[in-house]
Amino acid sequence: MIKIQNSPQSFSDDEPDGFPEIASDRMHRLPPYLFKKINSEKNRMRRENIDIIDLGMGNPNDPTPQLIVDKLKQASEIKRNQRYSVSVGIDNLRREAAKFYARHFEVPLDQDSEIIATIGSKEAFSHLCLAVLGPGDTVMVPSPFFPIHIYGPVIAGAQVVSIPMGSSDADLLEHIDMMCTQLFPKPKVLILNFPHNPTAKTVEKEFFAEIVKLAHKHRFYVIHDFAYGLTTFDSYRAPSFLSIPGAKEIGVEIFTTSKAFNMAEWRLGFAVGNSTMLSLLGEIKGYYDYGIFQAIQIAGIIALRECDAEMKKQADIYALRRDVLHAGLCNLGFPVKKPLAGMFLWAKLPDQFQTMGSLEFSMRCLKDAHVVVTPGIGFGDGGEGYVRIALVENEDRLKQALRQIKQVFFKE
Ligand SMILES: Cc1ncc(COP(=O)(O)O)c(C=O)c1O
Repeated sequence: MIKIQNSPQSFSDDEPDGFPEIASDRMHRLPPYLFKKINSEKNRMRRENIDIIDLGMGNPNDPTPQLIVDKLKQASEIKRNQRYSVSVGIDNLRREAAKFYARHFEVPLDQDSEIIATIGSKEAFSHLCLAVLGPGDTVMVPSPFFPIHIYGPVIAGAQVVSIPMGSSDADLLEHIDMMCTQLFPKPKVLILNFPHNPTAKTVEKEFFAEIVKLAHKHRFYVIHDFAYGLTTFDSYRAPSFLSIPGAKEIGVEIFTTSKAFNMAEWRLGFAVGNSTMLSLLGEIKGYYDYGIFQAIQIAGIIALRECDAEMKKQADIYALRRDVLHAGLCNLGFPVKKPLAGMFLWAKLPDQFQTMGSLEFSMRCLKDAHVVVTPGIGFGDGGEGYVRIALVENEDRLKQALRQIKQVFFKE
């Protein structure tokens, strides 16, 4: 049930005679890239002009709102925006982020000590790991997991303990409590991500309140990846971890414009919350980067200030796609829950495909049905037996994908 992830991998030694091995020790702690096989097959098929319906990556396929693009164009013409910016983000952007958090999540934030603008959430997370974790530290991560939640700590030199997500909030809370009681030295950090990628699991405030209690009881910190915090459906509203009293004393939340505003390649996110953790992040970022292109930061102000309606419209688009895909998969016999947030369906393979495994199923799906889905095993052992399907094509293409899957796997 409990797994310590720390296994070295062997790298080919391609160095010239007498030279030391070029790969650092750290590289040996990273596993081979699991999606490589699927990606290279996809690229090969595309080169042969085969129409592939790619539902693999959570890469938004709709455009950034025009208002934001226009602001970028305008701001990029201005000479002072072409110089180095500020590593932690310009004042006006951080001020707007504070207003945004207050408006959407009822969380008051001090723009100077409790907000840092980052180059997307992956950068925020990775550098935060480097700033607060190192050899001898242990991190708890629920499994299945979004890969960087494991490899961020691993690259930082920490030990990772994966905890089964369990079938309920109570299960997960119990596993965390048990882990803290059993492990010595005690875990230092818990990584959370709700709405969750890949499982689409969502939580309510009460769950976070229990986490805050556990954190204070066992003395661990929390990093909450809130990438899908505003991609929510129906009447569900995702709570911010920081909305719980006491959370700011022990936690940082990471938010991104990538999903909410279709700004994936703009690379603009925020780390917010505990001021001590954030000052460490700010310090390390000061060594590594000069901040985000200032024109993007200025366009980001428009996103946070003026695009609530566009954000809602985009979430509604995902909700419609979710309905189409959910209905289609249920018809085919996939046991799949209707998610309340995020960009994915997390579908258990029907019984007859369980022995095939998720990687083999996904490869066949690509080769024979020309549809890319992500094998659950890519998100850790806890993901085996599932595939993750991203809502990044329009409804017609999703229906087409379902027809092609049906033809290949469910022929009478
Ligand atoms: C849970 C989660 N965190 C972070 C990211 C990356 O976000 P960003 O573009 O802000 O780096 C993703 C992207 O798929 C994600 O699913």
